[in-house]
Amino acid sequence: MARHLITSAIPYINGIKHLGNLVGSQLPADLYARYQRARGNEVLFLCATDEHGTPAELAAAKAGEPVADYCARMHEVQADIAARFGLSFDHFGRSSSPQNHALTQAFAGRLAERGLIREVTEDQVYSVTDGRFLPDRYIEGTCPNCGFEDARGDQCDNCTKQLDPTDLINPRSTISGATDLEVRSTKHLYLEQSKLKGDIAAWIDSKTDWPVLTTSIARKWLNDGEGLQDRGITRDLHWGIPVKRGDQDWPGMEGKVFYVWFDAPIEYIACAQEWVDAGKAPAPGDGADKDSLWESWWRTDRGADDVRYTQFMGKDNVPFHTLSFPATIMGADQDWKLVDYIKSFNYLNYDGGQFSTSRGRGVFMDQALEILPADVWRWWLLSHAPESSDAEFTWEAFQQDVNKDLADVLGNFVSRITKFCRSKFGEAVPDSGTPGEAEAELTQELQSRMDAYVRHMDAIEVRKAAAELRAIWVAGNEYLQSTAPWTTFKTDPEQAACQVRHGLNLIRLYGILSAPFIPEMARTMRDAVGADDEAWPTDAAAALGALPSGHAFTVPENLFTKITDDQRAEWAARFAGTRD
Ligand code: MF3
Ligand code: ZN
Repeated sequence: MARHLITSAIPYINGIKHLGNLVGSQLPADLYARYQRARGNEVLFLCATDEHGTPAELAAAKAGEPVADYCARMHEVQADIAARFGLSFDHFGRSSSPQNHALTQAFAGRLAERGLIREVTEDQVYSVTDGRFLPDRYIEGTCPNCGFEDARGDQCDNCTKQLDPTDLINPRSTISGATDLEVRSTKHLYLEQSKLKGDIAAWIDSKTDWPVLTTSIARKWLNDGEGLQDRGITRDLHWGIPVKRGDQDWPGMEGKVFYVWFDAPIEYIACAQEWVDAGKAPAPGDGADKDSLWESWWRTDRGADDVRYTQFMGKDNVPFHTLSFPATIMGADQDWKLVDYIKSFNYLNYDGGQFSTSRGRGVFMDQALEILPADVWRWWLLSHAPESSDAEFTWEAFQQDVNKDLADVLGNFVSRITKFCRSKFGEAVPDSGTPGEAEAELTQELQSRMDAYVRHMDAIEVRKAAAELRAIWVAGNEYLQSTAPWTTFKTDPEQAACQVRHGLNLIRLYGILSAPFIPEMARTMRDAVGADDEAWPTDAAAALGALPSGHAFTVPENLFTKITDDQRAEWAARFAGTRD
């Protein structure tokens, strides 16, 4: 039994995520976690809310709530929506947890001990009107690179260049609009990543099996020299993890906090502690201490050397996961586990433009569930995952694809076979009839497709896996179409019984193979044919004979009701604007 540690990039606490965010990290991570569990492997699947930093403070202020209250409330909102989307996290943690406070401070202390932190006194923008330093996104102005007028202090949304707030031309405060900004000096900690550049470059070079999207972004940052300069890991903000050296005060750093991008990835580790502290981990074996439960996932000196760690994220997150977080891990030199595989995604666009949280453009997770079941979204999003390039959501394509795949192909198959069997043979798997040519061909095709499906899932080729699963559904449909038991029945009822038995076994097979993509529909299929053994089928012939004759089944509810043209038009109109 292999052990898989799986994490999704942790979503910012402010606001509800849109479908583009979902398909870029949490959803494919869930697909992989469900698949690995279904294969009988041990899985720890972690995600959390990313609660610190400027966006959280701004959103709380806008909501008129203390930031801690806002985060607690929004965490529950996000956890609830994630559960309703079927995201099967073993724990959904919080980067503001006490565990992450302690661990982040411990990492900083350790990095200082290793001579990798220096104190820098630097000039930063201070807003007299706001009475505070204005880091990052609190400042907007004109991009020095492309001239875009609403560039943020940390990055230009137009040309994607990473910026320093003091680079901006005509800067203004986004809190108050004030332009009475002045430069004042303040002290900060810098992580000397440049000292680790050689180690990180060699590590990236060793990852020859990683997706090109991941390694090309990492290399670009390494070679441009932008990514591996020493980086400031503290900020003049109130909300965040107080700067400490382990549990000791850090003289001169009073009142400052760690930068959100320093503490957020450390939450991947702290989240495993939260999982243990929440009582969700299996009981420790004899003589084992509680810490061993999470350390066996995260410390190579405590059992994590046999763990395969896979991270999922959108492409904008790649530099932080290929360079910055590994620099923290390597710099600490304490046998922390490094990631084994980074699966990254391009963007999903919405109807001719971008999904946008700040502009409320597109469909957001809560809205999506108001109009359709999670599985419909899961299927469409995963089967169109933006792997090799950006992808686009349009209502036309969405309607057409899900109607075809989930109603015409899969739903139709399930309902036809169960209804036909009930009417001619009753609600039990019929005996009699010998498999012939058609069944041999079906078995052969299924075997090669099931093998390919597993290969794609193992390689986390999401679109290819979806295409193969669809082809497995189509194969069943074609078998039914060409053998036509309703016609066969008139002349050879025994032969028809054999065809129906194969059909019912296919429903069971689909109920297992489809579960990582569409868990609810898969359960409906398994329940309908009373499949209790959910072991992953690797042998097509065995799978087609799994349900014994006489085994009871029921006709399930329609798996999926087609989207009508009226619905499509209504939704396209409803989601054409922006949400308030
Ligand atoms: N909150 C970030 C985003 O949504 C992702 C943080 S991932 C972590 O882009 F590594 F920092 F945890
Ligand atoms: Zn720009």
